[in-house]
Amino acid sequence: ELQQYEHYMLKEIMEQPEAIKRTLKGRLTEDGVAIPELEGFLHSRNLQSFEKIMIVGSGTSYHSGIIGKKILDSLIEIPVEVAIASEFSCEHSTLTDKHLVIVVSQSGETADTLSALKEAKKYGTPTIAITNHWKSTLSRQADCTIYTYEGQELAVAATKAYTSQITGLVLLAIVLAKQMNGRGVEQIPVLLDALHSLSEDVEKCLIMTQDAIDQFAQITNDQEKIFIVGRGSDYVLALEGALKLQEVAYIHADAYAAGEMKHGTMALITPGIPVIALATQHHLREKTVNNIKEMKARDAYVVGITTIGDDSISSVVDEVMYIPEAHPLLMPILAAIPLQLLAYYAGCVRGYNVDRPRNLAKSLTVE
Ligand code: M6R
Repeated sequence: ELQQYEHYMLKEIMEQPEAIKRTLKGRLTEDGVAIPELEGFLHSRNLQSFEKIMIVGSGTSYHSGIIGKKILDSLIEIPVEVAIASEFSCEHSTLTDKHLVIVVSQSGETADTLSALKEAKKYGTPTIAITNHWKSTLSRQADCTIYTYEGQELAVAATKAYTSQITGLVLLAIVLAKQMNGRGVEQIPVLLDALHSLSEDVEKCLIMTQDAIDQFAQITNDQEKIFIVGRGSDYVLALEGALKLQEVAYIHADAYAAGEMKHGTMALITPGIPVIALATQHHLREKTVNNIKEMKARDAYVVGITTIGDDSISSVVDEVMYIPEAHPLLMPILAAIPLQLLAYYAGCVRGYNVDRPRNLAKSLTVE
């Protein structure tokens, strides 16, 4: 089953081009996106009457939900909020049938997430599930389901789940934007083109980053702390990268919005401390470069991750790693790859069981 791989986590990281192909299979049409599972649901609702969308998930699925919000924000008009599933019932007693709740879960069995779904149903709020597991509790209880079809994920760390969920959220966002005649509909043809080459881009990204990340991971062996910073969707990526490093390599990894460092956390920057600075979004790069300079002035060891062809950060960081350039809304899929690889190699260097980290389970069936 593991074929040439030593661990499921690496196998599943490397499977992402294939997993994304499966999520997209049969769903990209000449001029749009077809998700037959959604049709009955969409026809029975007046989408124009929706007032708000909420996305809910736990852990990595919560992080893909935040990226989903950014995608929806750029394509449709109505407000989109994201909630951590375990916090959902504490906060959202104002749901109505004019809201749409999108529930994201790889397993479809996470207790916190199922309880958020139950909460939504209590208010008659329409629900869409995005999950990998056929006939999971989540898919049975939601009004309709978009399956990600990424294949079995056995390692506790969610890797291909994250990139397939974002792919599923992009598809859903396109369908909703078309039906709601959202503000971003003119972007859809370009986004569709980008989706066609997404799997290939992910493949390239794996090839471009694997060895460099493996080498960098070796120097993390004696580090107890790593900072990951970025702006916009790169900040969300930082959250996901930090979660992976904590989970698999037991490193105290902290994610910060790059511009927020100077408001307090900069005090923790000491000479040699590793900082990963993500700069994959063109329009935010200049400001991120300024933030990197502030950390370099305190002698942090900064590894920059940017897109190929960008030379704005190479002169201000200690090391730079390049990933392919794709549509800005799809960059969070590519940028996840080096961070997943880093957690994997750092966990291996430290001699941990990367597939079965301590204190954790793949499916969390208690709240
Ligand atoms: O099956 P789910 O997507 O609902 O799982 C949610 C989280 O437990 C999960 O993503 C967890 O955070 C991962 N192990 C992180 O890698």
